[in-house]
Amino acid sequence: MKNIIVIGGTKGIGKSIVEDLVGQNKIICLSRNKTDFEHKNYKHYVFDALTDEYPEANDLDCLIYCPGSINLKPISTLSIEDFKNDFEINVIGAIRAIKKYLPLLKKSASASILLFSTVATKLGMPYHASVSVAKSGVDGLVKTLGSELAPNVRINAIAPTITNTDLASKILRNEKIVENIVERHPLKKILSSKEVAKMASFLTSEHASSISGQIFNMDAGIVTFKS
Ligand SMILES: NC(=O)c1ccc[n+]([C@@H]2O[C@H](COP(=O)([O-])OP(=O)(O)OC[C@H]3O[C@@H](n4cnc5c(N)ncnc54)[C@H](OP(=O)(O)O)[C@@H]3O)[C@@H](O)[C@H]2O)c1
Repeated sequence: MKNIIVIGGTKGIGKSIVEDLVGQNKIICLSRNKTDFEHKNYKHYVFDALTDEYPEANDLDCLIYCPGSINLKPISTLSIEDFKNDFEINVIGAIRAIKKYLPLLKKSASASILLFSTVATKLGMPYHASVSVAKSGVDGLVKTLGSELAPNVRINAIAPTITNTDLASKILRNEKIVENIVERHPLKKILSSKEVAKMASFLTSEHASSISGQIFNMDAGIVTFKS
C-alpha cells in the first residue's frame, strides 16, 4: 500500500484519481473545500495551495498536483496579473509541493510525482496565451526534474485536451459547443476524467518504473492528427 498525497483530489480529474487509487493506497487529499467523500484509506485537509503551508506527512511514495486554470482571453484583455495568477497556481503551487515533500519522497523505494499540463503547450490555439505559458513551465519542470531526481524519484505530466470537469464547465456550456468540440477532435469524443485517472494510476505505478521526464498527451487526436 503506497502513501499518496493528492492536491486537488475533490473535483474533476483529481477526484477520479482518488476514486481509482483509494482502494489500494493511503491517500491524503488537500483542497480548499471538503466533500462528503469517505473511505478508510482517505484523509482530507482543508488547504489552499496559493497561501497555506503544506502540512507535514510521515511517509510518502507519490505526489500528485492537480490545481490548474483555463483562463481563455485574447492577449489584449489578458492582464499581467492574469499571467502571474496562472503561473502561481499551475507552477509555483507545484514547485512548493515538490520542495516540501521531496525529502520524504527520496526515502521511498518507488517515488513518483505527477503534474498536469495541457495540449495547448503543443498546439497553437487562440486565447490560450496565459495557460500555455504557465503549463509550458510545468513541461520544463518535468523535463528538468526528471533528469535531476533520477534514479530516486520519477516525475511525469499528463497533458489532457478538454476534459469533462468543473474547470471546463464554462467552456462545455451547451450541447452545440460540445458537438463542435467533439467534431474538432479526430477521435470524435470528449475526454473523461476517469480515462485520465487510469493514465495517472499507471504513471504512478511500478508498471511505469522506466518512465520519467515525459509529458503524455491525452489529446483525442487533436495534436497528433490532421483532421
Ligand atoms: N479540464 C480540462 O479540460 C483540462 C484540460 C487541460 C488541462 N487540465 C489540467 O488538469 C488539471 C485538473 O483539472 P480539472 O479540470 O480536474 O480541475 P477542477 O475540476 O477545477 O479540479 C481542481 C481541483 O483542485 C482543487 N484546487 C483548485 N485550486 C486550489 C487551491 N488554490 N488550493 C488547493 N486546491 C485547489 C479543487 O478543489 P477546491 O476548489 O475545493 O480547492 C479541485 O479539487 C489542472 O491542472 C488543469 O489545468 C484540465
